[in-house]
Amino acid sequence: MHKESRSRYNAHLIKLIIALVVVGVGGYFAKQALSPDTMGQYGHYRGADIEDQKNIALKLGTNDSCFQCHQPIRTIHKDGVHKTVSCEVCHGSYGNHIGDNDEKIGTLPVKRGDEISQLCLRCHNKVIQARPREFIKMVGYPEHLEQMQVNPTHNCSQCHMVHDPLLWIRQAREMMRMPEGA
Ligand code: HEC
Ligand code: HEC
Ligand code: HEC
Ligand code: HEC
Repeated sequence: MHKESRSRYNAHLIKLIIALVVVGVGGYFAKQALSPDTMGQYGHYRGADIEDQKNIALKLGTNDSCFQCHQPIRTIHKDGVHKTVSCEVCHGSYGNHIGDNDEKIGTLPVKRGDEISQLCLRCHNKVIQARPREFIKMVGYPEHLEQMQVNPTHNCSQCHMVHDPLLWIRQAREMMRMPEGA
């Protein structure tokens, strides 16, 4: 190689090294300046995040938290076929309804009319293939209503009490002295 081309080659190399050093040192200081203070305190995350997470207000309750105030519904729901279904699935979250001092701060949505049928079919529509049949009973829509010999515009809640769907049906059977399943 000629002398001149070799020194040009070295000059490139030196520029490259300087650039790498500048990027490296600059990057180090940028990381120091931009990382949150508690980064890496416990592991590869922001240590203060633990406190932040602890301070997030609770959003969800349990059925027992609703029962404190809704005694009449408690009586119906807790012995009915929907006892394993959470109030919040159908009504939304505790946090939107009750504040820190156990007072009502917001109105929860309540489905009415047609919307009730849509809500029921979200869990009980037999077109949902993946649902385990041995745990959740399924009905066809509108076949179920045809079998019951009513107009398809009937809402589920006209025969099924939403908080214990077999309550009225059991009572009707007892009144008619009909056996189970008839
Ligand atoms: C399967 C869905 C579902 C579940 C589970 C459910 N609800 Fe409801 N709830 C409804 C529907 C639908 C209505 C409205 C009924 C109607 O208007 O015919 C309602 C009505 C109510 C009402 C009366 C509100 C009003 O303005 O009419 C209260 C209070 C209530 N539910 C509380 C509860 C509580 C507490 C629980 C848990 C124990 C619960 N619900 C579980 C669907 C449900
Ligand atoms: C600290 C008492 C308290 C608790 C706990 C409570 N509620 Fe209520 N709720 C009320 C009061 C008061 C009303 C308004 C009067 C009424 O309708 O009974 C109400 C009304 C409702 C209504 C009618 C719509 C509305 O917001 O006015 C629904 C639905 C409802 N509650 C569901 C629930 C569910 C679900 C839970 C549990 C996640 C729950 N409530 C927990 C006190 C409570
Ligand atoms: C979040 C899912 C969910 C929703 C929404 C829901 N259910 Fe249920 N339902 C269940 C579960 C879980 C059971 C208990 C398992 C079973 O028996 O199928 C049940 C049980 C039932 C049963 C008893 C079945 C039997 O013979 O044992 C009837 C009837 C019923 N629901 C009707 C309704 C109606 C009507 C609505 C609308 C108001 C509704 N369900 C909304 C989940 C749901
Ligand atoms: C005209 C009254 C009526 C209407 C409306 C009605 N049902 Fe029923 N449903 C019944 C009766 C009666 C039974 C039988 C209960 C039994 O066999 O113990 C039943 C049974 C069921 C069962 C249990 C099925 C099983 O295999 O045991 C489910 C789930 C159900 N209904 C959901 C619904 C849903 C969802 C709607 C709304 C789309 C609805 N029902 C509308 C009367 C009705």
